[in-house]
Amino acid sequence: QNEIYLHGLEDRVPPFTTDATRLGASARTRLDAGAFGYVAGAAGSGATHRANREAFDHYRLVPRMLTDATDRDLRTRVLGTSMPAPVVLAPVGVQSILHPDGEPATARAAASLGLTATLSTASSYSLEEVAEAGGSAPRWFQLYWPNDDEVCVSILRRARDAGYSTLVVTLDTWTLAWRPQDLDQAYLPFIRGVGTAIPFSDPVFRAGLDRPPEEDLGAAVLRWVPMFTGTDTSWDRLPFLRQHWDGPIALKGIQHPDDARRAADAGMDGVVVSNHGGRQVDGAMASLDALPGVVRAVEGTGLEVLFDSGVRTGSDALKALALGARAVLLGRPFAYGLAHGGEDGVRHVLRSFLADLHLTLGLSGHRTPDDLTPDDLWHR
Ligand code: FNR
Repeated sequence: QNEIYLHGLEDRVPPFTTDATRLGASARTRLDAGAFGYVAGAAGSGATHRANREAFDHYRLVPRMLTDATDRDLRTRVLGTSMPAPVVLAPVGVQSILHPDGEPATARAAASLGLTATLSTASSYSLEEVAEAGGSAPRWFQLYWPNDDEVCVSILRRARDAGYSTLVVTLDTWTLAWRPQDLDQAYLPFIRGVGTAIPFSDPVFRAGLDRPPEEDLGAAVLRWVPMFTGTDTSWDRLPFLRQHWDGPIALKGIQHPDDARRAADAGMDGVVVSNHGGRQVDGAMASLDALPGVVRAVEGTGLEVLFDSGVRTGSDALKALALGARAVLLGRPFAYGLAHGGEDGVRHVLRSFLADLHLTLGLSGHRTPDDLTPDDLWHR
């Protein structure tokens, strides 16, 4: 903030908006229509995507005065990872459709701020390449649970060997939703957007892919799709993951309190309350509205509740934290930053978000995120 006010905008790279609610519109000019539609798009009518944002407007912060919040400390520990603020980069797949530097650029930007980035199974760079880019910063790995156990174990082993500490298992995308923007353009990033880069990081997907790219991609997609779609995962299969992953595990895509309770019963370490940014079940409730019920359901179990879907500003994060989230995950905002300016673009978005969070926490009268309770909110 001071940097901008004191030195102006001229030398800043890249010069684009600090308003994350408008980042999408400004990223649009940088991307081809297919890639933009894929990132900005949502399931069905977009009702849940809109509801995610609207829900933040139904809660308002109630600032406290004369609390001496000049000296703030946002540090926290989430799912075994120390972080400078309760903010994590959500898994976002196929980032090379946004910028050729893709996931390694995101990893470098996050690492430069000490933030944890979650690498998607659908990464356009191998998980080892991304780990190397992130250096010594903490990193998490998101699993799309393949129905081939050998592939699953291979991915988990490689992720562990590459230093990913925490596993985030996404449950809400066992098949792709009805997404009109993508269908209208016949756009599937795995086929159209990545050129010769092969998403999905396991070498099994790369085997035999040195024929002409078009042919190879088609063949590869035909092999991956059945492996990552299907319904043969179930609550009974969670011990299998536990057996092959010795770090913390969080289930992502939880919205129902009973599912959160089941996660706790199954010995999971956390859940991410999320509706995938409104990209899966159109008509699903706003993620923020699902949060209080989940928090209540797992009270006293030790299960950590994280939150995403629709977080754009510091105050959005504070509302989720006040409702009991341990941390928030950011999705589209940093993706748009990547589209704007690669590593610098991601860093700009993250720094802006952290500065906003830091200021708004203090102006609301709080020193640490742990000070926030539901009583600090007014619900319309
Ligand atoms: C996602 N998301 C996602 N989630 C996941 O578990 N694995 C993935 O590969 C992806 N890929 C992905 C791509 C794109 C382009 C977007 C926008 C989102 C969902 C993501 O992790 C997160 O849940 C949402 O993005 C959060 O909502 P916001 O912050 O985008 O509103």
